[in-house]
Amino acid sequence: MPNAQQAPLKIAVAGLGTVGAGVLKLLDAQASLIEQRCGRRIEVVAVSARSKGKDRGVDLSRVQWFDDPVAMAAQAGADLVVELIGGSEGPARDTVATALETGKHVVTANKALLAVHGTEIAQKAESRGLTVAFEAAVAGGIPIIKGLREGLAANSVSEIHGILNGTCNYILTEMRTTGRDFADVLADAQALGYAEADPSFDIDGVDAAHKLAILASVAFGTPVDFSAVYIEGIRQVSAVDFDYADQLGFRIKLLGIARRTDKGVEQRVHPCMVPKNAPIASVDGVFNAVVAQADFADRVLFVGRGAGAGPTASAVVADLIDIARGRSTPTFGVPADRLGAATPSPMESRRGSYYVRLMVVDRPGVIADIAAAMRDQNVSMEQFLQRGRSPDEGVPVVLTTHDTDEAAMQRALATIAASDNVLEPPRMIRIEQF
Ligand SMILES: NC(=O)c1ccc[n+]([C@@H]2O[C@H](COP(=O)([O-])OP(=O)(O)OC[C@H]3O[C@@H](n4cnc5c(N)ncnc54)[C@H](OP(=O)(O)O)[C@@H]3O)[C@@H](O)[C@H]2O)c1
Repeated sequence: MPNAQQAPLKIAVAGLGTVGAGVLKLLDAQASLIEQRCGRRIEVVAVSARSKGKDRGVDLSRVQWFDDPVAMAAQAGADLVVELIGGSEGPARDTVATALETGKHVVTANKALLAVHGTEIAQKAESRGLTVAFEAAVAGGIPIIKGLREGLAANSVSEIHGILNGTCNYILTEMRTTGRDFADVLADAQALGYAEADPSFDIDGVDAAHKLAILASVAFGTPVDFSAVYIEGIRQVSAVDFDYADQLGFRIKLLGIARRTDKGVEQRVHPCMVPKNAPIASVDGVFNAVVAQADFADRVLFVGRGAGAGPTASAVVADLIDIARGRSTPTFGVPADRLGAATPSPMESRRGSYYVRLMVVDRPGVIADIAAAMRDQNVSMEQFLQRGRSPDEGVPVVLTTHDTDEAAMQRALATIAASDNVLEPPRMIRIEQF
């Protein structure tokens, strides 16, 4: 039972942007509920950001201000440092390192930092008996880390797949429902604040890959290995692909997939065609979703808001409450010195089916040549769609394949791309039958 007489948990917060200010607001609004739930208060004693004068909609008059978050981590009279600056290097990394070196627990929402340095940070924390908690780093308000690490702790997990980037899911949903092109929808998403001015981390799949690397570690008990993630973003998905996907019974989603196979651990982020009746297919807009395949619990689906001040602060403060209650779990579910290295399965080993869209000259023999290029690599076609005829001009042709190896598919596409009758680089989207 919590002890009502316990001293407050004193925290120092580095970064007062969307998430940092959101955390301070939540702590204020829910102070009595939090005290009731952990038997002690959570008290902000120090903060740090770049601009002291900026109005953040929170009262900072009773907390110590630091211009330098690393100095704050070293000097503030705090039990714990909350890192909400962002980035895998620089002040965020130094703040976390200093907090641990000076005996403070860490709570962070920083997926880039954990994806690149997670194992080393976990080792540093655990060797000092400290906790590093990061629920907010993956899928914002969805309690997926606790869900996997605590809720599914009795299971062996064989696969995780999910919609891990709300910006991409918003763009793909808008493209499907309005028929507009990628660039047009991206500009809108930027105006609405759903996409950054520099959107490349999101739309090129890097943000989703950071989250996937963390999820894979928690799910499989392996060291975080961001460098092993195959990454492909959504820039190449075109408005016409949504029409064809619809006709073929699919939705297009940017997914992160981590799977144990007999060749090793697959980790990949790329656009996927998923059957319209797959649970993940109907998760639209800025929402995130994660599906875990567990041996005893079977299939578990988590859905919710993956970003924004409220949902992300909710996850950060849940971690603070755990620590205030005295709960501690190994960072990635398995003690850091016992995370078992996994063999990465290369992308060429992926086995599955494919959607291919070509722009070809409408001329006798062209389709036969495409079929021959596939046959030569043992790739067997399942469906073939050609809309309209335009003799001697370019016409779009779409085909799907039966299950084949990625390496064979890539060889067939290279042969097809080299043909004079193929007018644009072939577009390929992998089909995932969940
Ligand atoms: N936004 C979301 O919905 C969301 C969701 C999940 C996870 N996250 C993660 O949460 C973290 C924070 O994201 P955010 O959206 O809140 O970012 P943000 O709005 O850009 O805020 C960043 C904060 O860090 C401060 N800062 C930057 N460089 C600093 C430095 N050298 N020294 C001291 N302070 C510094 C900034 O100060 P100034 O305000 O003075 O400029 C700002 O307050 C990131 O790791 C992000 O990936 C965000």
